[in-house]
This record gives sequence, structure tokens and C-alpha cells, in this order.
Amino acid sequence: MEIHIAMNDQKWVSLAADQVEVQLRKNPASALSFATGATTLPLFDELISRHEDGRIDFSQATCFQLDEYRELGSEHPASCAHTLINRFYNCINIRKENCHFLDGLCSNLEDFCRDYDSLIQDGGGLDLQILGIGLNGHIGFNQPGTPFNSPTHPAKVEDFTWHKNTRFFNNPADNPRDALTMGIATIMSAKKIILMANGGGKKDILCKALFGPVIEDVPSSVLQKHPNVLVILDQSLSKLCSS
Ligand code: GLP
Repeated sequence: MEIHIAMNDQKWVSLAADQVEVQLRKNPASALSFATGATTLPLFDELISRHEDGRIDFSQATCFQLDEYRELGSEHPASCAHTLINRFYNCINIRKENCHFLDGLCSNLEDFCRDYDSLIQDGGGLDLQILGIGLNGHIGFNQPGTPFNSPTHPAKVEDFTWHKNTRFFNNPADNPRDALTMGIATIMSAKKIILMANGGGKKDILCKALFGPVIEDVPSSVLQKHPNVLVILDQSLSKLCSS
């Protein structure tokens, strides 16, 4: 696992964008997946800017959604799909048919989740997965206790994360208790994983995730077992594990 600490916010974002740029230059038809949330929004802006400058071409790329709330359609402004579509996909030249979503309104969840994983694997697997991290160590919506061998599945949004995510909802009553997420096994099947984090508040959980025991109570600790993980942190996280 390689850990990069960026000098400033701009560098932090550009380090991650460089990875996407390099990946798409190497293989323009790469399969990518991006977390949503506050962490990746500046990355989307940087990738859009590089696309506008002619540096990144998404025309052959494929994107798979990492996680989604249940009961919310893509028209709901707090849905992950809404963010991906409006803050990213609509601003680059990715083809609509190459953007795959977790259907939060789907009724046949078991079949849907199985087919989603098959779609990923039949297409050759994920080339690059970009992750954020929750304050309790979750990745996607894989909360503490999720089995490391989990495929894409329906997940509960446990209380801690639910309370944190109410900031994205005008009306907290709209904040779903249920979600769909790529499983930990799905995430770990990606050929390369980038974990992005900024803000000093994530210091303790990053310390556990990157240097603590690999346990299901800290879902992101599983990344220690992946052969190709790049962790990109901002300067506020430069003294990880110091008191
Ligand atoms: C959310 C999402 C994750 C995201 C994480 C961190 O609940 N399910 O995909 O990476 O928590 O969010 P943020 O970037 O807003 O801190």
C-alpha cells in the first residue's frame, strides 16, 4: 500500500486526477468506479476541467456506481446517482449507455445485485476504484461487520452513518435507512484502488484502517490486503497515528 500526502488541497485533488488520467491513457476503455460524497466532488471538478482542456477522453470508458440509497430515484438531489450524473457524467464525454447504476428503486434486489456483479466481471472487471472513507471506516455502504467476501448487496445504513448523511438531505425524514452497495469482494476485485481522504477528522479512523488489524469491524482495513492500493491524503492527515 502506497500512501501519498499532498502539500495542499490542489495537489491532493490533482494526485487523484493524475491516476484517472494515466489509467485512461493506458486503456481508454477502462472500467472506473467513483465514490460520491464530499470527498470526491473536487475530483469530479478537476476531471471535468482536464476533459475540457482535452487531456482526458472518457468516450470509451465505462463507469459503475459504487453505492446508492434505496427508495431514492436518480432525480432525488441527495441520491448518489444524481450527484454522479449532474456533477460529473453530464459534464464529460462518457456515453450514457456506459454508465451503470445501482437501482435504488429495484424490487428484485437479489437478481439485480447478482447481475450487477456479473456485468462488472463479464466486462473484464474494474480497472480503477476510487473510494472515500466514512468516519466509522465504511467503504461504499459496507458498514462495520460486513463480511469481507460480500458481493454487491442491500445494506443497512447504520445510525452513525445515517446521522452523518442527514447533511445531504433538506428534510432528514427523506434520509433512507437502506442502501445498495458494491460488496467488499466486488471492491477488492478492482485492479487498482485509490482511497482519498481529507480533513483532520478522519485521522483516527484512517490510522485504524491503514495500520490497525484487518478486521470486519473496520471495513476499510481490508484494503491492506489488496496488492495495488494508493492512499491519497491531504496535509491535515500528515501526522497519522500521532497523538
Ligand atoms: C458515504 C458514502 C461513501 C463515501 C463515504 C464518505 O456514506 N456511502 O461512498 O465514500 O460515506 O463520505 P464523505 O466523502 O462525504 O466523507
